[in-house]
Amino acid sequence: MIELERINTFYGLGHILHDLSLRVGESEVVALLGRNGAGKTTTLRSITGLTPPRTGAIRYKGRDIAGLDAHHVSRLGIALVPETRDIFSYLSAKENLSIAARAGSRWNMENVLERFPSLKTRLNNKGRELSGGEQQMLAIARALLTGPDLLLLDEPSQGLAPLVVNAVMSTIDELKKERVSMLLVEQNAEMALRLADRVYVIDHGTVVFEGTPAALRADRQVTTTYLGVGG
Ligand SMILES: Nc1ncnc2c1ncn2[C@@H]1O[C@H](COP(=O)(O)OP(=O)(O)OP(=O)(O)O)[C@@H](O)[C@H]1O
Ligand SMILES: [Mg+2]
Repeated sequence: MIELERINTFYGLGHILHDLSLRVGESEVVALLGRNGAGKTTTLRSITGLTPPRTGAIRYKGRDIAGLDAHHVSRLGIALVPETRDIFSYLSAKENLSIAARAGSRWNMENVLERFPSLKTRLNNKGRELSGGEQQMLAIARALLTGPDLLLLDEPSQGLAPLVVNAVMSTIDELKKERVSMLLVEQNAEMALRLADRVYVIDHGTVVFEGTPAALRADRQVTTTYLGVGG
């Protein structure tokens, strides 16, 4: 589905990603973990064209998309749910959704709202009137309306109460059952490991672990050094 091959990404002079390689297969859920500043968001920005890599390849459905602008990448079927959620505060929930909707998507306003019943009752509320959990659901719903084949989620559990985290987790799990390919960035390693088929841990912009969730759990050295969770 997508393969990043030795990408190097910079912010100005700051060299952030160093020969980073990873891949997400068809219908696979892959977790990308790492501590603060490891380069997780930068990896997603590299894929979506917001901060294109200076060198390396990003192959998606057989073509190199590295350096394409964000709009183009989105039209090829890659949707980002950003860390900051980026809900328009002064538009209603419904307007936030309708501006994302794209013809040809398997998700439309109707079936997306069936999936997120809590949003259904909030459609006329402004973005800024929604709770953190509702904004997160809205951000995921909006991404689905663009008709993605690959969904990139940047810390969907961030700042949410435990019950809401569970709701977000079940949403991701349902999408997984529908065989949506996902790259899931999380600081909440526990949540990510329960959902993922495979996992990468990155540090200082480079991959330091690649394997199954079970293999990561068993690797005390990696979990204590890079994830700050004691074995
Ligand atoms: N716009 C920017 N300009 C310069 N440096 C940046 C910029 N954004 C991020 N960085 C730096 O790039 C590095 C990687 O940041 P990135 O946001 O990718 O990390 P992250 O793994 O997503 O961290 P977090 O868990 O805090 O979200 C950090 O050292 C950060 O300070
Ligand atoms: Mg980040």
